[in-house]
Amino acid sequence: MADHEDRTEGARFAASVPQRHEPFPLKGCGALDWGMQSRLARVFRPDTRRTVMLAIDHGYFQGPTTGLERVDLSIVPLLPWADALMTTRGMIRSTIPPASRVPVVLRASGGPSILKELSDEQLAVSMEDAARVNACAVAVQVFIGGEHETQSVRNMTRLVDAGQRYGIPVLAVTAVGKELTRDARYLRLATRICAELGAHFVKTYYCEKDFDTVAAACPVPLVMAGGRKLPERDALTMAYHAIENGAAGVDMGRNIFQSDSPQAMIRAVGAVVHKSSKPDDAYDQYLREPAPAG
Ligand code: R5P
Repeated sequence: MADHEDRTEGARFAASVPQRHEPFPLKGCGALDWGMQSRLARVFRPDTRRTVMLAIDHGYFQGPTTGLERVDLSIVPLLPWADALMTTRGMIRSTIPPASRVPVVLRASGGPSILKELSDEQLAVSMEDAARVNACAVAVQVFIGGEHETQSVRNMTRLVDAGQRYGIPVLAVTAVGKELTRDARYLRLATRICAELGAHFVKTYYCEKDFDTVAAACPVPLVMAGGRKLPERDALTMAYHAIENGAAGVDMGRNIFQSDSPQAMIRAVGAVVHKSSKPDDAYDQYLREPAPAG
């Protein structure tokens, strides 16, 4: 209700103090709309501007992957340690507790199974449905160099256009495909194309040589893909080097949920990402966590 009596004092207006405005200081996001920045600030922790995303979307093309047979039993207990969960709308509605509060990065492309040509994807979710499940971002596969390269890029640009309308950021997932050489030259090409065409952040693999140039040449945040299961110490080392060389976080699946102790592993990954823990220290932390019951 408006003041009937003017009891404010001039000093309360602080007329000489310029109005504060603090955009979310994430790489490349300063010009985005408020809703976009707000959602990105849920995926990327504001204190570190980094993220540990837990990827469990494998079922959308390869069915019940090892470790994801019962997401209610294997994944839901890990959610308190995930900064974001990358998953499908089917898994969200059937299994993820709405009260978990974990920000969702929604898988929004699909089509072919592992029995077919994987690059032949289409968009598989409308932006309205992404908003309905309260997604903080949507994810789309981009197959640079793949058989259906142009179609997958078109999927991404359509999703970006829809995301711009709704204030929902788009994660481009690139460098997927067995036949591709994942060296820095290829990763620079793939990630830069995604960013130039509007992706708000990009997921890509780590390469040992010159990963810093991949991150530097991409004007939006990069999150490192986990890939096939490695020994825990090696996976933590890979994450460490990715972060030290410019990645803004990780989006790991099998290296967390196929670990002997997924809870210890996600916490150790979190120490690498948010505290820059050295790989040996993070691995010691992993070993110190109690083994899962049963
Ligand atoms: C990659 O193409 C998909 O998004 C995967 O289903 C998933 O995100 C991969 O996770 P990871 O390789 O760490 O198991």
